[in-house]
Amino acid sequence: MKPDLPCLLALLCLLHSDAESVWGTTATSTHFPTTASTSFLTSDFSTSSTSTSGSGWPSSSSKSQSLSNFTGSKDDHGTCQCSVILPDTTFPVERVERLEIIAQTVTKKFEKELSIVKEYVQLISVYEKKLSNLTVRIEIMEKDTISYTELDFELIKIEVKEMEKLIKQLKVGFVGSSVIVDQLEVEIRNMTVLVEKLETLDKNNVLAIRRQILALKEKLKECEDSKVENLPAVPPPPAPGSCAHGGVVNISRPVMIQLNWRGFSYKYGAWGRDYSPQHPGKGLYWVAPLNTDGRYLEYYRLYNTLDDLLLYTHARENWIAYGQGGGTVVYKNNMYVNWYSSRDIAKVNLTTNTVALTRTLPDAAYNNRFSYANVDWQDIDLAVDENGLWVTYATEASTGNMVISKLNDTTLEVLNTWHTKQYKPSVTNTFMVCGVLYATRTLNTRTEEIFYYYDTNTGKEGKLNIVMQKMQENLQSINYHPFEQKLFVYNDGYLLNYDLVFQQIPQ
Ligand SMILES: *[C@@H]1O[C@H](CO)[C@@H](O)[C@H](O)[C@H]1NC(C)=O
Ligand SMILES: *[C@@H]1O[C@H](CO)[C@@H](O)[C@H](O)[C@H]1NC(C)=O
Ligand SMILES: *[C@@H]1O[C@H](CO)[C@@H](O)[C@H](O)[C@H]1NC(C)=O
Ligand SMILES: *[C@@H]1O[C@H](CO)[C@@H](O)[C@H](O)[C@H]1NC(C)=O
Ligand SMILES: *[C@@H]1O[C@H](CO)[C@@H](O)[C@H](O)[C@H]1NC(C)=O
Ligand SMILES: *[C@@H]1O[C@H](CO)[C@@H](O)[C@H](O)[C@H]1NC(C)=O
Repeated sequence: MKPDLPCLLALLCLLHSDAESVWGTTATSTHFPTTASTSFLTSDFSTSSTSTSGSGWPSSSSKSQSLSNFTGSKDDHGTCQCSVILPDTTFPVERVERLEIIAQTVTKKFEKELSIVKEYVQLISVYEKKLSNLTVRIEIMEKDTISYTELDFELIKIEVKEMEKLIKQLKVGFVGSSVIVDQLEVEIRNMTVLVEKLETLDKNNVLAIRRQILALKEKLKECEDSKVENLPAVPPPPAPGSCAHGGVVNISRPVMIQLNWRGFSYKYGAWGRDYSPQHPGKGLYWVAPLNTDGRYLEYYRLYNTLDDLLLYTHARENWIAYGQGGGTVVYKNNMYVNWYSSRDIAKVNLTTNTVALTRTLPDAAYNNRFSYANVDWQDIDLAVDENGLWVTYATEASTGNMVISKLNDTTLEVLNTWHTKQYKPSVTNTFMVCGVLYATRTLNTRTEEIFYYYDTNTGKEGKLNIVMQKMQENLQSINYHPFEQKLFVYNDGYLLNYDLVFQQIPQ
């Protein structure tokens, strides 16, 4: 590989024996197999060269270069005299040795770097294992906790899985940039800390989690809404409190708000939000579970905000003696409730918790004569809509068919009455929207159907088939809020919200 320099030069000298003057020659440089070693070698030799006559060693970058110079002359006998000044008299063993030493050093350095990289890769797999361990632990936790925390842990799991995926991708495409690995390591460590923090969260502090879930659900809803916005088929909702629509045509899936404040065994009751046309968006939230007998209403709670309701904080708890059934509503800061063991309606001032007025509802059947299917003691079911206060009941004269009356909310006088052809005990519950009564019936344990309507504006009645999902088997009460355009449903102790979808009136 390496040229035999003395021989070559002698040959050249002979060929140019008649030359009198200084002349140069060329030599083809040789190449080292690895570029890393070559570049190192080149720089080292060019800076440390102590050659007395040479113009430098061949560089790998140039194909040919002046190797050396020497003079040739004829002596008195005509013999060619050639004096050559070489960088070294023999093959540069010393330099090759030095090169070998330096190559070894570089190899060591390289190996060191490589081992660091390998360490990082190992670190990644450690974190990977840790993450999958956490995933497993979260799954176990999830099984222990109440079902409605599932969403939160679902999100963490997704996050962890995404991280794992990222690491795998990185390992495949790993190119040895330790900066990226460092960053990743920090991120994974942060992730691990985060998941661990979440894991140590007080498991009983379900409410805080519940609140987060709700915020997430809100975001999700926003997201869905923005998606929906892109679809021209879905009509924009009418303005809050407005009746500029063609009635209810569909309903959302239920949003579970919480278990009622008295607990799981309080399966009967009602809840809602005060509606006042003067301050439509400022109503109190109220929750009125009946005693476990499903009949007496004694205690109810008021909350200023939905957050307070969700966290069961800043509640005003009141006692009354006694309401009956789950037909209760709140309108303009007064609670209207069927009074115990009577056909009377009581008006309770919520500021003072005093009964402002009671009035008999003429001819109304009561005390479980014509209550709803699956729900006792709700013979007299009050309702609030955009137009005010209503009551749905039945009489002996109506043979148990539903009768709707509009009430004066100040005096509780009946202003007007409509007679339907729908038997009250065969429906599960009712609500009013814009003067239209809607009735539900059970399809099965998971679904209900809004199957009937009676329009007091026109006196028309008819069939509907709007399917309504439910969390538990029985709906104990349904209240409509005109500003929110939502239903507030008491479902075997759970408080649910539904959004109504209205038919758009063509412009
Ligand atoms: C030849 O070498 C001499 C001294 O070693 C130097 O002065 C001269 O410039 C060199 N000539 C060439 C063409 O490299
Ligand atoms: C997860 O790691 C902990 C210790 O860090 C260990 O006790 C536990 O057994 C591991 N769980 C699984 C499922 O690997
Ligand atoms: C990781 O956490 C530290 C301290 O909590 C923070 O300074 C850093 O920005 C976080 N890094 C990443 C990538 O999230
Ligand atoms: C009612 O809404 C549900 C989704 O909430 C949808 O699947 C269904 O198609 C809708 N029905 C009608 C008649 O628009
Ligand atoms: C409730 O009672 C208070 C105190 O008597 C009174 O100021 C308020 O107007 C009443 N509220 C309603 C809605 O009647
Ligand atoms: C309700 O009764 C009050 C008091 O008698 C009266 O001022 C008001 O006009 C009545 N409202 C309606 C809608 O009849």
